[in-house]
Amino acid sequence: WLRSIRWVPEVDSTNRLAKSLADQADQPTPMLIVAKSQTQGRGRLGRSWFSDSGTLTFSLMLAAPQLAVDRTRWPQLALVAGLAVCDVVGEVVDPVAVQLKWPNDVYLAGGKVAGVLIETAGRDNDHVVIGIGLNVATDLSKAPPEVQQRARSIRDYADHRVETFAVLPEIIDRIAVRIADWRTDSAAIADDFSKVCLLRGRRIEINTAGQTLQGVCLGIDGDGALRVRRDEGEVVEVRSGEVVQWSD
Ligand code: BTN
Repeated sequence: WLRSIRWVPEVDSTNRLAKSLADQADQPTPMLIVAKSQTQGRGRLGRSWFSDSGTLTFSLMLAAPQLAVDRTRWPQLALVAGLAVCDVVGEVVDPVAVQLKWPNDVYLAGGKVAGVLIETAGRDNDHVVIGIGLNVATDLSKAPPEVQQRARSIRDYADHRVETFAVLPEIIDRIAVRIADWRTDSAAIADDFSKVCLLRGRRIEINTAGQTLQGVCLGIDGDGALRVRRDEGEVVEVRSGEVVQWSD
């Protein structure tokens, strides 16, 4: 499935490198860029992403023809990739402990174990870059205190030693399979998502389009939007935003 693999010993950000390659013509895609060390990992909403030598950091770049879906659906790739990461993390640790926090965060035992950053790239925005950071053997005791508090690392939950790059081939395979399924039946991800949804049935507070909404999360719809029953009873669908609080 992959047409090229770039292994880089050190890079500021695999997403940034992928985007700069997309500006040059005729890149062989799907392209995988894997970094042994990433010095300025980018997160969503302008945040940074902490990693050490135990963190798997990579970007997968696809071109429009490989996706063959309307570009308005590209943001759903965050859910598709998140589900693929859940599949594989659930093979290494107790799958019951693995959940997805809409839209992009993979949770393990109540803390974030992986993040997904989707960006468009190329002169005509005709490429999409799926950047994934996964704490496989990350030593969180060296992370900043706020990361230590809310992050998790697979190595602390697996009953055997896990090498940083060992899960990568399986994740790529799962992403390829899940993208193929999603292209033909986009609504199917809603069912799979609901099985691992961290927020379903919980009271949440969500920042979206400059306002804060509160209500109970009902899961996602077939387009990947989060369904929230507000306190007045109205059900709203949130297409983009950040869930900032949720009840236990
Ligand atoms: C988030 O949770 O906010 C998303 C984090 C995404 C981090 C990955 S690491 C590989 C890729 N390159 C980056 O600079 N960011 C993504």
